Amino acid sequence: MEPYAIIQINGLVKRFPIGKGEFTALNRIDLSFGKGEFSGLVGPSGSGKTTLLNIIGSLDTPSEGTATVLEQNVGALTAKKAAVLRRQQMGFIFQTYNLLPVYTVFENVEFPLLLLNLRTAERYKAVMDALDWVGLTDKVKSRPAQLSGGECQRVAIARAMVKKPILVLADEPTANLDSDNSHHILQTMEKLNRELQTTFIFATHDEKVIRYLKRKIVLKDGRVSSDEWVTNQREG
Ligand SMILES: Nc1ncnc2c1ncn2[C@@H]1O[C@H](COP(=O)(O)OP(=O)(O)O)[C@@H](O)[C@H]1O
Ligand SMILES: [Mg+2]
Repeated sequence: MEPYAIIQINGLVKRFPIGKGEFTALNRIDLSFGKGEFSGLVGPSGSGKTTLLNIIGSLDTPSEGTATVLEQNVGALTAKKAAVLRRQQMGFIFQTYNLLPVYTVFENVEFPLLLLNLRTAERYKAVMDALDWVGLTDKVKSRPAQLSGGECQRVAIARAMVKKPILVLADEPTANLDSDNSHHILQTMEKLNRELQTTFIFATHDEKVIRYLKRKIVLKDGRVSSDEWVTNQREG
C-alpha cells in the first residue's frame, strides 16, 4: 500500500552565506514522505538534518528547488501563511523541550490551542487527552522546573500533539535524555503514530531512535546517501 505523499521535495538546495562566500548545507535533495510515516533523517552532526527538517517545517526556505508540504509550496509562502501552516497542521519537538518555565504543565500544553477558536471545555478535554497519551495527567499543575527531563519531553510531546497535527517534526528529541526516558518517549510516539496515524519525521544521530524508525534516510554532506525501509531492529 503506497501512502499518499504529504511532502514532496525536488532538487532542493540550501546555501547559507558565510563570510564572503556560501556554504551548501543541502545539495539537490529529492524525497517524498507519505502520510503516517515514522521516518528519520539520520547522519553525523553537520550533515544537514536540521536544515532539511526546518525547511519541511516551513521555518526556513529553499535556495533552489521546491519543498511542497501539506499542499503548500514552502518557498513561496509569506511568513504569515507559513505560521498558519505550522499552527494548524504541525507539531514540533526539540532537544531542549522549549517549555515556558512560568506556566504549568496544563498551560504549556494548552498554549498552541489558544490561537484556535475553541470553547474552554473543548480545550480542557484536548489538553487532558494529550496529557493522558504521554502518561502525565497527575502532573497538570506542576511547572517544568519540578519535572525530570523525560517528563519535560513528554510535556513537549503532548504540546506537539494537542491539536492532532498531521505532521510532527522532532529534532534530536532524545539528546538530553537517558536511555530509559528515551525508550519511553519513543514508545509513546510510536503509539501515537499507530493510533492517530500522525506522521513523524525525526532528525537524529541517536542509535536508540534509529532502532525505532520504519524508514531511515541517511544524509551525508547535504546529500541523501541512502534511503531504506527497515523492520525489526529493536531487539537488544
Ligand atoms: N544559519 C546558518 N548559517 C551558516 N551555516 C549554517 C547555518 N545553519 C546550518 N549551517 C551549516 O550547515 C551544515 C548543516 O547543519 P545542520 O543542518 O544543522 O546539520 P545537522 O542537524 O545534521 O547537525 C553545518 O555545516 C552547519 O554549520
Ligand atoms: Mg541538527
